Amino acid sequence: QGSARSIAVFGAGYIGLVTAACFAHLGHRVTVRDIQPERIRLLNAGDVPIHEPGLGDLLAENKERLTYTLDATEAVRDAQVAYICVDTPPTASGDADLSRVWAVINALKDAPHLSAVVVKSTVPVGTGARIRAALNEAGLEHVGYASNPEFTAEGRAVTDFLHPDRIVIGTADHTTAALLTEVHAGIDGPVQHMDVASAEMVKLAANALLATKITFINEIATVCEATGADVSHVADAIGMDHRLGRHFLNAGLGYGGSCFPKDSRALRAMASNSGYSFQLLNAVIAVNDLQPRRAVQRLKAELGTLNQRRIALLGMTFKPGTDDMREAPSTVLASRLLAEGAALTCWDPMARPADTAPWATAERHPTIIEAITAADAAVIVTEWPHLHDVDWEQARPTMRNPLLFDGRNMLDPDALSRVGYTCMSVGRATTRP
Ligand code: UDX
Repeated sequence: QGSARSIAVFGAGYIGLVTAACFAHLGHRVTVRDIQPERIRLLNAGDVPIHEPGLGDLLAENKERLTYTLDATEAVRDAQVAYICVDTPPTASGDADLSRVWAVINALKDAPHLSAVVVKSTVPVGTGARIRAALNEAGLEHVGYASNPEFTAEGRAVTDFLHPDRIVIGTADHTTAALLTEVHAGIDGPVQHMDVASAEMVKLAANALLATKITFINEIATVCEATGADVSHVADAIGMDHRLGRHFLNAGLGYGGSCFPKDSRALRAMASNSGYSFQLLNAVIAVNDLQPRRAVQRLKAELGTLNQRRIALLGMTFKPGTDDMREAPSTVLASRLLAEGAALTCWDPMARPADTAPWATAERHPTIIEAITAADAAVIVTEWPHLHDVDWEQARPTMRNPLLFDGRNMLDPDALSRVGYTCMSVGRATTRP
């Protein structure tokens, strides 16, 4: 389907590698360029530097169409399309640091076959216009420009990429729009064409609205706790309204990860820079910051004190199915618990060993049972399916105090209290033996 193109992908992170693997799967020749020698070495050795289901298989199956390099000139030598997938971390002012994007743009002067530059990195609205101007200044007027934001979620990125709800292509010219539509041939999803600025805004607005939806149910959960309602019933019934939908209505310890926290702050900063205070987003960010702190406060109230209490944190990654710890609520919980004088144990099946604060002082255990042994409380921080497989009745005597704080509302609190636990959760009544 479509004709094979030569594509350069800049950035071998989550987005870049998934993009490269999927384009190679569609039949394109792809050269991936990263500035980290270790990443390129691993990829050339047939390893995958990140955990993402299906990614390793896809890279291996298409390895004859994939090249990895540290050299930007080599990456663009044959490229017809250059995809920019580098990270854009926030600076002190909250603006995105675009230095890695600009470094790629500078390397494009050596790309004799280039027809289009595409940005997948999340960038402030208006970045495309600045890149367009820079390309023109560099004598690359003939090269098209497009914004093609990525909506994949970690842990299901390959599936999301190949079966997206939509493909957003933002560009000012028809040739580039047609070229990118052709590059995506074989992907099972509708293409939405628009201008560059709108495409840039779609990504930020979509993530901010998802973060708002989670935050809304977290606030409803707080009111449920105060009034005796059960947020799970409320979310199920709200979600049956097709205008609202059940997705992203799970109350918990707050959203984390590489996108929601960063993108909501970036959108807020962007609004502030134009003199507008985005009030709804201010509230979303504040409530999400409060969410893990509230949990620690409730635990403290239940135990009387956290000083010298042994607390087990079950799950460290920002969500199950990933090894990613970026902006994980577990890190805020761990820091707060340590500040209150607690001793920490932890368990996670996938998080990479962390020897930096606050994890340096936490005892990490290979099993859930070992982590909760002699604990005064266990907190479910990430809804790993392993937690469903624990025989909680058998596990109870190993704890010094059978208190379970289900921070993701994944277990049945009544069943737990029947086998001797005090079960706290988010937006539901605390059940007792
Ligand atoms: C998200 C978006 O889903 C994706 O479209 C975008 O491209 C990048 O950001 P991701 O960060 O991988 O993807 O994870 P996601 O599954 O969306 O979860 C984000 C956070 O929200 C997690 O911390 C999760 O625990 C939390 N969450 C999600 C809730 O607390 N409740 C919910 O109902 C859903």
